[in-house]
Amino acid sequence: EWTMENFIEEQVEAIRARVGGGKVLCALSGGVDSSVAALLVHRAVGEQLTCVYVDHGFMRLNESERIVKTFRGELGMNLIAVEASERFLAKVAGVSDPETKRKGIGNEFIRVFEEEAAKLGQVDFLVQGTLYPDVVESGTSTAETIKTHHNVGGLPEDMKFELIEPLRTLFKDEVREVGQKLGLPEDIVWRQPFPGPGLAIRVLGEITKESLDILRHADDIVFQEIKKAGLYRQIWQSFVVLPTTVRSVGVMGDCRTYEYPAILRAVTSDDAMTADWARLPYELLEKISNRIVNEVKGVNRVVYDITSKPPGTIEWE
Ligand code: XMP
Repeated sequence: EWTMENFIEEQVEAIRARVGGGKVLCALSGGVDSSVAALLVHRAVGEQLTCVYVDHGFMRLNESERIVKTFRGELGMNLIAVEASERFLAKVAGVSDPETKRKGIGNEFIRVFEEEAAKLGQVDFLVQGTLYPDVVESGTSTAETIKTHHNVGGLPEDMKFELIEPLRTLFKDEVREVGQKLGLPEDIVWRQPFPGPGLAIRVLGEITKESLDILRHADDIVFQEIKKAGLYRQIWQSFVVLPTTVRSVGVMGDCRTYEYPAILRAVTSDDAMTADWARLPYELLEKISNRIVNEVKGVNRVVYDITSKPPGTIEWE
């Protein structure tokens, strides 16, 4: 009989048998897929698993701290957290082309990850949170394009280990169920998808520490308000995009302002292949707009993206 409990039990047994006394490594991103994969392997081989979390500095507000606290503190896993934001910021300095940005971040990610792996000595297995749709997608001719677009880095090619992909037969909703059963906190189980390069592809144009901070602050307001409205799970993704090459005139008190607009993007979708802009309630839009303009220094206007996919994409870069 196929039940979630049986699935977990079988996977744990299989992983344990396969790994034996070997050493296992996992790149944790904070997303639900890598989290659940890591948790399953941890259940199977405990201390033999080491997770590496690379903080590239493009995460949401307080997210890195939360990830470390959850996995190391609450779940008791071996976690190496690498604070590498300066390196990544240097890597994207002066870069405004989206694909160049992605490549730079992806390559740097591999480099940082390899450095950490090297410190661990012999590693025998690598855990990946590959899902069934990823397996199917990789079978198409556009696999490589999709891959560079959707994963930070991918696999270091000359590293010699076998892959453990315990979620290969599952769909997203099943992965969430496994996560829940394994005690993964709700906020990770239900986390909206977040791109590997993170906020770096949401600061349009050149990235600076200042523009990242502005975006992070505005983004957090959207996150809070969408949650408060009880819409976080229904909405596929909700976030802010900051176009740093655009500024507009506004008025604040007696003063004229000349600052960035914040672009609000919220979409509904089943699989990110197509998406529709979310019909957010006017009151919510009003609240978000007021809060961002009042609280985020550097932003004086909020616009809402009402483009579906296709022809638009979910992200702006
Ligand atoms: P688009 O913008 O192509 O995005 O409609 C589709 C889905 O993919 C995510 N996305 C990425 N994920 N690395 C990732 O890991 C990336 O470079 C990347 N670009 C887009 C996007 O957030 C959406 O869920």
